[in-house]
Amino acid sequence: MTPPPTAATGLGPVPGVEELMADLPLSRPTDPTWGELAAANLPIFLADHAICEQQAALFGLSLVGHYPEDHELVVHMSALAAEEVAHLRRVTTLLHKRGLSLLGRRANPWVQGLRKHLDNSSNANLKVDRLCLGALIEARSCERFTCLLRVVQSTDPEVALLLQDLGPAEKRHWRLFIELARREAAQRSDDFDFDSRWQGWLKLEDELAAQGGKSPTVHG
Ligand SMILES: [Fe+2]
Ligand SMILES: [Fe+2]
Repeated sequence: MTPPPTAATGLGPVPGVEELMADLPLSRPTDPTWGELAAANLPIFLADHAICEQQAALFGLSLVGHYPEDHELVVHMSALAAEEVAHLRRVTTLLHKRGLSLLGRRANPWVQGLRKHLDNSSNANLKVDRLCLGALIEARSCERFTCLLRVVQSTDPEVALLLQDLGPAEKRHWRLFIELARREAAQRSDDFDFDSRWQGWLKLEDELAAQGGKSPTVHG
């Protein structure tokens, strides 16, 4: 597994928009009209984006709390949380520069729908499920940032630069979550079928995403 990025290793080459989109594990692309909607409501998008970064950091740290004995997971999730805090600081700085502030917690029906699929009846399944959930949150966020980037790169260079920087980070994150989930499944001694569980997650995400695209929030 690739070690978490450090100041010494750097983040590697920056993928382009088409590469980011082509690699996504998602089956349903967001309707391009969502990018127009978010671009027309940037104060709402950015305030929601800041909370998404805060929630992503908390999610990474929650996994450290749930699985402290898993050194590899602890190393990667601590690094991910630190990156998400850096993203939060960037979005918060941009909001403040524009005279805007964070809006605080809000309902996120897409995430709530995904969370219902967590298998709380089995600790072993729950660990894999939490990692699959993390992968989908990062992947859809990556896709939405890239959708919006396509619109604002000609109208708002400051937001475009932010999204251009964050998209590749979210790509690394969804790939990391899937790698950790696959590693977890491979270590099990039962006949757990990771591919079928992951397909179930993708199907659910597809159904939830079909209802979205109507709000200028990151997952709306
Ligand atoms: Fe992030
Ligand atoms: Fe992320």
